[in-house]
Amino acid sequence: MKLDQQHLVVVGGSTGIGFATARLALAEGASGVTLIGRSADKLATAKERLADDRVSTGVADVSDAAALSAAFAPLTSIDHVYVSAGTLSAGPIAVTEPAVYAQGVNERIWGNLNVVRVAVPKLKPSGSITFTSGMLSQRPSAGTAITTMLASGVEGLVRALPFEIAPIRVNAVVPGMVDTPLIRSLVGDNTDAALAAEGKRVPIGRAGTAEEVADAVLFLITNKYINGESLYLHGGGRYA
Ligand SMILES: NC(=O)c1ccc[n+]([C@@H]2O[C@H](COP(=O)([O-])OP(=O)(O)OC[C@H]3O[C@@H](n4cnc5c(N)ncnc54)[C@H](OP(=O)(O)O)[C@@H]3O)[C@@H](O)[C@H]2O)c1
Repeated sequence: MKLDQQHLVVVGGSTGIGFATARLALAEGASGVTLIGRSADKLATAKERLADDRVSTGVADVSDAAALSAAFAPLTSIDHVYVSAGTLSAGPIAVTEPAVYAQGVNERIWGNLNVVRVAVPKLKPSGSITFTSGMLSQRPSAGTAITTMLASGVEGLVRALPFEIAPIRVNAVVPGMVDTPLIRSLVGDNTDAALAAEGKRVPIGRAGTAEEVADAVLFLITNKYINGESLYLHGGGRYA
């Protein structure tokens, strides 16, 4: 039981990678898992699916500092925080409305800083924060500059933050294409074909699963010497 007697907060825990991480943490003996997200309905569904009285929930948008602080308020002591919250809506800069890319900045830059501010006073010295970036930080293409910038910002934060909040550790998981509700909502009816095409591009021959990314998050949470690191999960596609 790798998380025996430890409490994990998953900011963005109602679906996808965050949900898979919550489920894995419970299987690994966590004493409590708190799921935070914007939609109370999605959180209620997640709690129902997990069917475990160690699960609590809080409604907050990560970009809303006051709401996030209120969601953390019932928690007195935390072992680990995993931040999975984020949407993907930006396109080419020239045709993307400022309000759209502002949402990305609010979630992935200010949102992550909000998490640091509310979580650090409650985190044990042996604890950790794990953020989520994305492989666009390493493999940009036309129309991805905004997302690439935001993902790179997350990885920059991870390199510097350990110096500010030591001995609390800070890392990031960096997924390639992973089969989750987010990807399915973006790709729509062609999801299976898009995932299959991505799978063909990478040496491993398929897209990733939320459970595989959750497994990497658990490693970053439990290995006591990994710090300031971004862990890339792309099925070998980083150099494809
Ligand atoms: N799936 C991929 O292929 C892939 C690849 C690279 C990076 N990523 C990144 O991995 C993270 C998780 O993605 P996923 O695929 O698991 O997506 P997902 O299934 O949509 O899960 C996202 C979770 O975060 C919550 N959330 C979204 N925006 C939020 C906000 N502003 N404040 C608080 N909670 C928020 C969602 O619930 P609510 O909607 O109710 O808030 C949900 O619980 C995202 O940051 C995504 O960009 C994913």
